[in-house]
Amino acid sequence: MSNIVVVGVQWGDEGKGKIVDLLTENARVVARYQGGHNAGHTVIIKDEKYVLHVIPSGILHKGKTCIIGNGVVIEPKALIEEIEGLRKRNVYVGKNLFISGGSHVIMPYHTLLDGKNEESMGKKKIGTTGRGIGPAYCDKMSRTGFRMLDLLDGGRFREKLKANIKDVNFLLENKFQNKKLSLEKVNSEYMRYADYLAPFITDTVVLLNKLIDSGKNVLFEGAQGTLLDIDHGTYPYVTSSNSSVGGVCTGLGVSPRKIDGIVGVMKAYTTRVGGGPFPTELNDKLGEEIRLKGGEYGATTGRPRRCGWLDFVSLKHAIRINGFTGIALTKLDVLDELDTLKVCVAYTYEDPYKRCECSKKGVACRFTDMPQDAMILEGCKPVYKEVKGWKTSTQGVKKLKDLPKQARAYIDYISESLNVKIDIVSTGQRRDEVVILRNPFK
Ligand code: IMP
Repeated sequence: MSNIVVVGVQWGDEGKGKIVDLLTENARVVARYQGGHNAGHTVIIKDEKYVLHVIPSGILHKGKTCIIGNGVVIEPKALIEEIEGLRKRNVYVGKNLFISGGSHVIMPYHTLLDGKNEESMGKKKIGTTGRGIGPAYCDKMSRTGFRMLDLLDGGRFREKLKANIKDVNFLLENKFQNKKLSLEKVNSEYMRYADYLAPFITDTVVLLNKLIDSGKNVLFEGAQGTLLDIDHGTYPYVTSSNSSVGGVCTGLGVSPRKIDGIVGVMKAYTTRVGGGPFPTELNDKLGEEIRLKGGEYGATTGRPRRCGWLDFVSLKHAIRINGFTGIALTKLDVLDELDTLKVCVAYTYEDPYKRCECSKKGVACRFTDMPQDAMILEGCKPVYKEVKGWKTSTQGVKKLKDLPKQARAYIDYISESLNVKIDIVSTGQRRDEVVILRNPFK
């Protein structure tokens, strides 16, 4: 028996979809623990491209049980569209999918408020995906949210909706000069979704723990990445859930004692979508070239991703929090044509408020640990080490010995500097374009 977590190490979009898909072969169950349809997990199987948002990627494999945990937020319409989209492509979605009765429901006003809040923040906006994620988690914490099981009791749902819509409409009218939402319209729309989704809703804590106790291998599928974690990311420029490993236990009701391995998915460079600090960002032609070569456009929103060099300072932070047992290094092939690569090994920072000893002495601070304050991180400048490029195609390479010497040196440099084991190196989009050094399940 072996239960493995797959977590994003950076700001999401590290290529978790492919790694989860690859590892699913060894798992009987694939369970998602946080986030919502803000995520977009791209999986390429035999030249067919699938983008999954809420449904675990295990759905693309026959005979796997897929679980959407209580830590996930669900927009019923989007989920139904996702199910129907898969069915149209002859992917079976039925008795293999289970939705936690404890997952929270994204309501139309969450999506509306997400957009309005962002608009009102002007330049300081988070750059959310506009999917209502933050407001839905906000209601969860305020204990005013709907859980999926509430959809199963029409009377209770309507009563609660009446109270919620009254408050929301006050806000919409008075703060945002927006027209009010109709109780009846929202109620009847959500009751239709309830009819469709009811057969999938269950107590997944009981189900998942039974499966684990009977010796079934589980793959816990993370969305977004550690630097977007609400507690450990670059707050407030984060998503609203625990995307690091801690989210597994709360988001699925699983004991940490049942986790056997934690695979961090790390892109060979760095990307970020939306606002917030990004010390190694390349705002130049090279950044644009990496974006083009890496196809760095959001799988959910289509937004261009910001691109930059690998950043050991933030990676060390992510490694500390998650305790990875292994790393899946992705998109190595995107760097194939570069003469030289840079890796950030420290930050320097000049404090405009002269609060620290260094600034009082007139010298810049040097950080090798990521500052907790996003405002400070925003002012940090990277200190780079240069690494020689390999100038040879690595696309589709399947054996370590077939990788160019300098590419292997880059991998070793990452592994040794960060004290992490590299389990997998991804060398292309397809499932078989990969070097497997150690199977995390074995
Ligand atoms: P939200 O999750 O839509 O509230 O967005 C908050 C921040 O997380 C924004 O910067 C988004 O771009 C980012 N974000 C959310 N989901 C993803 C994802 O799946 N990949 C990368 N960034 C994401």
